[in-house]
Amino acid sequence: MNIDFHGQLKAELGELEGRGLYRSPKALEGATGAKAAIDGREYLLFCSNNYLGLASDPRVMEAARNATVKYGWGSGASRLISGSQRLHRQLEQALAELKETPAAALFPTGYMANVGAIAALTSAQDTIIVDRLCHASIIDGCRMSRAKLQVYEHNEPDSLRRALNRSGKYRRRLVITESVFSMDGDLAPLPDIVNLCRHYEAILMVDEAHATGVLGEHGRGALELFGLQGEVDIVMGTLSKAIGSIGGFIAGREPVVEYLRQKARSYIYTTALPAAACAAGLTGIKIIRDEPERRRKLWENVTYVKEGLKALGFELLGGQSQIIPALTGDEAATIRLSEHLFRQGIFIPGIRPPTVPKGRCRLRITPASTHTQDDLDTLLDAFRTATPI
Ligand SMILES: Cc1ncc(COP(=O)(O)O)c(C=O)c1O
Repeated sequence: MNIDFHGQLKAELGELEGRGLYRSPKALEGATGAKAAIDGREYLLFCSNNYLGLASDPRVMEAARNATVKYGWGSGASRLISGSQRLHRQLEQALAELKETPAAALFPTGYMANVGAIAALTSAQDTIIVDRLCHASIIDGCRMSRAKLQVYEHNEPDSLRRALNRSGKYRRRLVITESVFSMDGDLAPLPDIVNLCRHYEAILMVDEAHATGVLGEHGRGALELFGLQGEVDIVMGTLSKAIGSIGGFIAGREPVVEYLRQKARSYIYTTALPAAACAAGLTGIKIIRDEPERRRKLWENVTYVKEGLKALGFELLGGQSQIIPALTGDEAATIRLSEHLFRQGIFIPGIRPPTVPKGRCRLRITPASTHTQDDLDTLLDAFRTATPI
């Protein structure tokens, strides 16, 4: 046993704690919905990505239960061995339809979809140009690919253009952005980015993790909102947020999707999703298609909370999505505000570095379509009684 090694780790953990960066997540005791129980007390949950309440929708739960009875729980092997079940194929078909692409490939998580797709589609002869605020799964995929990584300034097409101008010598130029940024809640200028990629013949990948199910008339995502379906080479999404299940996917044309089935390591070298997760995903997608009123309610709730927080003097980022980041200053102030809310029965943990840049700590507030007017008023009351930041 190497005592020094353990000592080093303990010292680093102590240092994290000292800097207000140690994370001790709270354990929920029941289903994740508009409310959740923690240590025997009920809290309003305003931090989940379960935007439409589907993670605990009775129909989603029943679909998972029925599939478990029929197929068993575990899938037992990778998709390429004996793990592929008919439900995986059905779900891939439903995702392709949702995204209006010819095909889609399913991964166990959104993280794995990003990492696997980026690393499979690029190598040392290529360059990847990413928005500065892209999610860790995108950055990890870039590192694994060994392509030359370039970063452009957040949501600045001119900065992207300069990077593209410098990139003539590479075999492939892959541009990656999120459509809704997960921690800032703003939308990428997708029409400009699509035009630039077309002009420079670059490949475009858009992460629609937080847009799928929520944006666009039919909940297809930000590409639907902007009328850009069919204009993006690689559309990434996840089933773990608005759809209410778990799993990630890449949607696109057949060659991309088939290439990933043959080459993406996080598709090949891991056990397939349980059938129950696929059944839950299929049901979530159906509800998204059939119940647009959920999206309408979500936007009503989001607008109400945003206006209420602005009236209280909070500085909000974003503005165009369901994610409402309220800036809270340094780590200590963020923890203080989060603890104040917790005492009032509201659960919103502080978001701190390295998830967000230093000095840009925030509370990431996510109303859901399932929150009632009372829930929203309780939230705003709790913010009202907080000490000014
Ligand atoms: C922008 C973005 N991409 C990808 C992911 C990963 O998705 P998943 O949680 O399904 O692994 C997340 C969420 O964590 C995300 O916010």
